[in-house]
Order: sequence, then C-alpha cells, then structure tokens
Amino acid sequence: MKPCLICSQDVEPFISFGRMPIANGFLEAGDFADEYFFELRAGFCERCRMVQLTELVDRERMFHDNYPFFSSTSTRMAIHFESFAHEVISRRIGGDDPFVVEIGSNDGIMLRHFASAGIRHLGIEPSANVAAAAQAKGIRTVCRFFDAELAREIVAEHGQADAFLGANVMCHIPYLHSVLEGIEILLKPSGHVLFEDPYLADIIAKTAYDQIYDEHAFYFSLASVQYLFSRHGMEVVDIQPQNVHGGSMRYVIARRGVHPVSAAVRFLADKEKAQGLDRRVTFNDFRVRVERSRDELLSLLRKIKKEGKSVAGYAATSKSTTVLNYCGITPELLPYICDTTPLKQGRFSPGMHIPIRPYEEFKNRFPDYALLFGWNHAEEIMAKEEAFVAGGGKWILYVPEVHIQ
Ligand code: SAH
Ligand code: TMP
Ligand code: ZN
Repeated sequence: MKPCLICSQDVEPFISFGRMPIANGFLEAGDFADEYFFELRAGFCERCRMVQLTELVDRERMFHDNYPFFSSTSTRMAIHFESFAHEVISRRIGGDDPFVVEIGSNDGIMLRHFASAGIRHLGIEPSANVAAAAQAKGIRTVCRFFDAELAREIVAEHGQADAFLGANVMCHIPYLHSVLEGIEILLKPSGHVLFEDPYLADIIAKTAYDQIYDEHAFYFSLASVQYLFSRHGMEVVDIQPQNVHGGSMRYVIARRGVHPVSAAVRFLADKEKAQGLDRRVTFNDFRVRVERSRDELLSLLRKIKKEGKSVAGYAATSKSTTVLNYCGITPELLPYICDTTPLKQGRFSPGMHIPIRPYEEFKNRFPDYALLFGWNHAEEIMAKEEAFVAGGGKWILYVPEVHIQ
C-alpha cells in the first residue's frame, strides 16, 4: 500500500511489471554494471480515481542534459502541435500582448509557432540538451522543473499568463499539487490551461500496457483530472480526444465559474462510468489481458527464431523498455532495434541490452519481421516503409493484441 499522490488514500497496485530500468536509460557498453532498477507497479485510487505508479524514480535520473527524446523526430507530431498552437492562438488567447507558458516544451515543437507569430512565450524544460535545441531556434526557454516557486518568479518577470500549456508532461510530474499551485499563481483570472496526455480509457481498451513506465507517474481520466483541479478552484470546461500516442485526451481548464462547461465534458464523464474506469475490477481485467499479451509475444518471437527467420525491433521507444523487460525479450530473440535518434544509436536498450542501430540498417537490409515498438506512429512509419512490406516483410504488433500484419 502506498498513499495516493493526489488524495493520500491508500493505493494498492493492480499490476506489477517486476524489476525495471529507466525507460530512456540507453546505455554505453561499459555502463551495464551500474544500471539502476526499480519495481514498476501501478495502482488505482478508489477515492480520487487516479491511476498512478506506486514506486517513483527521482526526476534527475530521467530528465537531464542527455535526455534522448527529441519531440521533433516525428513529422506527424510536428503537424499535430502546429494545429494545437493554432487552436490556442485562434480560440484561447487574444487582447493586447498575450503571454503563453508551456511546460515540457522539449525542442520547441509547439512553441515555435508562437515564436514565429510574434507571441510572447516561455518554455519550461528541465532537460538541458533538448532545451538548448529550442533556444537555438530562438524559442525562449528556461531550463528548470516547473513548480509553484518558479511560477512566482515567472509572474514577477513577465506577468500572468493567458494560457498554460503542456503535452505529455503533466503525467510525468508526481508533485502535481505544486504544479497546480503554480498554475493558480501564474494564470490570469480568465486564462486557460490546455494539456494533453495518453488517455486512460484508450490504454485500458487497447491493452497498451507499454504506456506504463517510470516517466509516466499518472494515467489520467476525466474523472481524476476533475478531482485534481477541483482541489485548486479550477474545472474542466472542455475535452478534445486526440488521435496521437495511441489515444490522448486534451483537457481545457479554467478557474471555476469563469467559462461555460461544454456538453462534451458531461458526455465523457458518463462514458467513463460506462467503461468502468471508476471500478477496480476493470484494472484487474486489464492485468489478465497484459499477462496474455506477454505470453503471446514471447511465443511468437520464439517461433520466428525456431523457423530461422530474421527479426528486428523498429523504433527504440521509451515504451519498448516496459515490453522488453516485462516479457523478458533478450538479444537472442531480438538481435537489434533500429532507431532514427543519433543519441540512441550505438547504445544498448535499458535492462535487456539489445543493441540500438541506425535506422539506415533497416532500410539497407530488411529483416523478415519488424517488431513495431513505435506503434503509436504506425501510420507514419508504415507509409514510409512500403518497400519493406512489398519485399515480403511483415510487421509484428502487440497493441491492441499480438498480431502479424
Ligand atoms: N511536449 C513534448 C515533450 C514531451 S516529453 C511532446 O509532447 O513531445 C516530456 C518533457 O517534459 C521532457 O522534455 C522533460 O524534460 C519535461 N519535463 C519533465 N518534468 C518536467 C517538469 N516538472 N516541468 C517541466 N518540464 C518537465
Ligand atoms: P515515442 O513513442 O516515445 O514517441 O518514441 C519515439 C522513438 O521512435 C524515437 O526514438 C524515434 C523513433 N522513431 C523512429 O525510429 N522512426 C520513425 O519513423 C519514428 C516516427 C520514430
Ligand atoms: Zn487518490
């Protein structure tokens, strides 16, 4: 039992993935002996409905000057964030000299649209190497973790913000109450918070257990987000499902009573109840499906090896760390993973120590099978890899279930 990170009620894990390394902790060959491990477990709080990790990793182990995830590697995500920026510019800010703050702004994939429109902006990005990539593009970025203290400093220097933005970052921050206190300080009375993260209902429905890893402290639903913000005088005024990262939800939030609440919010609240997101049994059923998925993936890889066919991993995603370590996929079953990120190439996958090779190796010598760890980018990747399939190559997917395509 662990106290809920949001409401302090006791939370019991509903799933344990066992000993796990840092999801983005790609290693040099000499670093294996010092590798850090923790117990990856997730629990559901029956009081505030928040699904969360019950063991946490220190943030400095995950976000530092060698953080290997650069948002702009995906062109699909670049398009997605262009439209996110335009939604904010056209609908959520206005008036004289608006000011926008984004946390987890990474290499500036979204803020660059505010910079090019001449809108006052500030990125908060603690991982120094990705923050530097944004700064090099002329995007104002502070290399810090966001919290209430930083919010006070920002207000003192720039005044309050019209919009507070975050994509795939709120779920990374265990100390969310300090973030929300920061938002209360930072946001103008009529300002908006817009953030999006992988959506719990999609994770459950698709058995996308690989979304569960050290960086993702929370798996949000509307109900849990409503509870959290209500404790800080704010409310969800709109929701917008997003077709990225396997199913995300964008929450639009404002101070209570300032903006009307859309019908979509009430509709989704009912839908979540119908989906059982407020009941423990839903998460126990999820665990059973996850165990089955693990067994099926492992036997498929063993079968491929027995048949003497070749297989490579496609995209060394952070999610792949959960799959590889939980299923026990060793280099004997999966000899290498190809990835486009230079920082990962030549390194080894966390825990299982599978070599990460440059993407070009895939293109130059197609394997018989490719295990698609970047399944959330499937559309983009499959469109790019038509020659692989035309040459007889087959994709292995494990979401929503293990299958060959
Ligand atoms: N928004 C980008 C990046 C998501 S990755 C996208 O959607 O692609 C999460 C980012 O949040 C990382 O760059 C990490 O360094 C940053 N981050 C982690 N904790 C943070 C915190 N407390 N405040 C601000 N940023 C944080
Ligand atoms: P993500 O699922 O956490 O966004 O992981 C993205 C990883 O996938 C990153 O290491 C880059 C890699 N990748 C490729 O190798 N090829 C591609 O075409 C895409 C879209 C991503
Ligand atoms: Zn709780």
